[in-house]
Amino acid sequence: MNSPIQTPSIQTPAIIQVQQLTKTVPTSTGPLTILHDLSFSVATNASLAVVGSSGSGKSTLLALLAGLDVASSGDVLLADTALSGLNEDGRARLRGALAGFVFQSFQLLPDLSALENVMLPLELAGRTDSAELAAHWLERVGLAARIKHTPRQLSGGEQQRVALARAFAPGPKILFADEPTGSLDSATGEIIADLLFDLNREAGTTLVLVTHDETLAARCHSRLRLAAGAMVSYDV
Ligand SMILES: Nc1ncnc2c1ncn2[C@@H]1O[C@H](COP(=O)(O)OP(=O)(O)OP(=O)(O)O)[C@@H](O)[C@H]1O
Ligand SMILES: [Mg+2]
Repeated sequence: MNSPIQTPSIQTPAIIQVQQLTKTVPTSTGPLTILHDLSFSVATNASLAVVGSSGSGKSTLLALLAGLDVASSGDVLLADTALSGLNEDGRARLRGALAGFVFQSFQLLPDLSALENVMLPLELAGRTDSAELAAHWLERVGLAARIKHTPRQLSGGEQQRVALARAFAPGPKILFADEPTGSLDSATGEIIADLLFDLNREAGTTLVLVTHDETLAARCHSRLRLAAGAMVSYDV
């Protein structure tokens, strides 16, 4: 067995604390542990890249951090709230209050316009200014002329701009991004990555970014490397 990886000491309050997190799933051939005993913290306003080969557990970790899935043992604390102490509704409320998401496949609602896609989480949060705020964010991501378009009428890069506007508009404290440039050609991916890092800095969000792209990972404050569900390094 390797000795445990020492994570850096925390200089600023950690908005994400991960304690001995393990995920085991049932399979036809018996239980399969897909994340092994992970412990680390992410400081407020920091950015963390999660890297590792396909199947190493990156998306599973992101889902556990965001409370979309539950751990088999160990815990995740988001802004000092332990996810293990919350039921599904509680986790959804905390997620709604704290977290934004960007995915590889954009995950826009196909029958809604760009504006309506960005408005949706704002309306769910009870905002009365959702149309104005959504229009502001679409302008910020360079899509002022496309707000009435549906996802089908937009390019991949434009759809990811809408997804970024949707993620940032409610003012999340943490942004979870799973391969946000993974479906885009390299030039478009670079533009979207620049936009993501710019928005993250402007908004003061804490970023957790799953990526295969080492250049993108190098732009984050720290990098967590997974192999077969175990942490192989955590560098800053
Ligand atoms: N519910 C499940 N049941 C069984 N196996 C699962 C389940 N969820 C994930 N796995 C397995 O756990 C491993 C990690 O999956 P995960 O999707 O987290 O990998 P990943 O690092 O995100 O990969 P990729 O880079 O391809 O997106 C994989 O081997 C996957 O098949
Ligand atoms: Mg994945």
